[in-house]
Amino acid sequence: IQNWMKSIKENASAGVERLLIGNKCDMEGKRKVQRDAAEKLAKEHGIRFFETSAKSSVNVEEAFSTLARDILQKSSRKVVSGGGGAGAGGGVPRPAPP
Ligand SMILES: *[C@@H]1O[C@H](CO)[C@@H](O)[C@H](O)[C@H]1NC(C)=O
Repeated sequence: IQNWMKSIKENASAGVERLLIGNKCDMEGKRKVQRDAAEKLAKEHGIRFFETSAKSSVNVEEAFSTLARDILQKSSRKVVSGGGGAGAGGGVPRPAPP
């Protein structure tokens, strides 16, 4: 995950929306990462964390719609704050208007 974060930082647009997903949460008996550890890691990177199971349809919808909502909010903030279009103001999130 540290490598993926580095890769995103180096090669993706500034301010790109990220989230951390622990998949296969239906297989509790084979858990490799404790939830606390994953939550802590997500917090360190300032991103959301979901545990999902594609097999059992747990949190998949929630993870994708939250990501979509965050992207939408971020892009509407850019418009409102007059970010100047593509390339400008990236990676400088502003607080949502009241
Ligand atoms: C960023 O992209 C370049 C070119 O594809 C690649 O060589 C480099 O390893 C990437 N950086 C990271 C941290 O993945």
